[in-house]
Amino acid sequence: MKPQIIPLRVIGDDRGSLVAIEAEQNIPFEIKRVYYIFGTKDGVERGFHAHRNLQQVAVAVRGSCIMTIDDGKEKTEFKLDNPANGLYINSMVWRVMKDFSEDCVLLVMADQHYAESDYIRDYKTFLSELSKK
Ligand code: TYD
Repeated sequence: MKPQIIPLRVIGDDRGSLVAIEAEQNIPFEIKRVYYIFGTKDGVERGFHAHRNLQQVAVAVRGSCIMTIDDGKEKTEFKLDNPANGLYINSMVWRVMKDFSEDCVLLVMADQHYAESDYIRDYKTFLSELSKK
């Protein structure tokens, strides 16, 4: 599956809103890890890596940021500014996050535990590993 926005159903009533995230239901994998990025300083860009095997879904549960996904051929910018939208991020794509609002809380669900060996942190290595696929 390519990177794409997954709409998350909002259960709303006169008290407010609720979104439920369920592994292998509205998120297309078993969730092994959840982390969140917050308190990002003004002007900071993060990411600049690809993952060899990891799949993730990112949700801006508060605030906004821009996620650029580069598959080696094409770059696509996704604005994450809605807690009812998840961005599905497949493996072997280069991601950069920028333009974090001061209040941004970016929640990320992943299908693997943290492993530095899964990261490609050098863009040339990313392109070279892609070409061997
Ligand atoms: P990193 O993935 O490089 O951050 P970003 O892509 O957002 O710039 O992670 C930053 C640091 O946090 C790095 O030292 C690895 C560590 N880390 C963990 O220990 N566990 C995790 O689940 C994640 C995502 C990062």
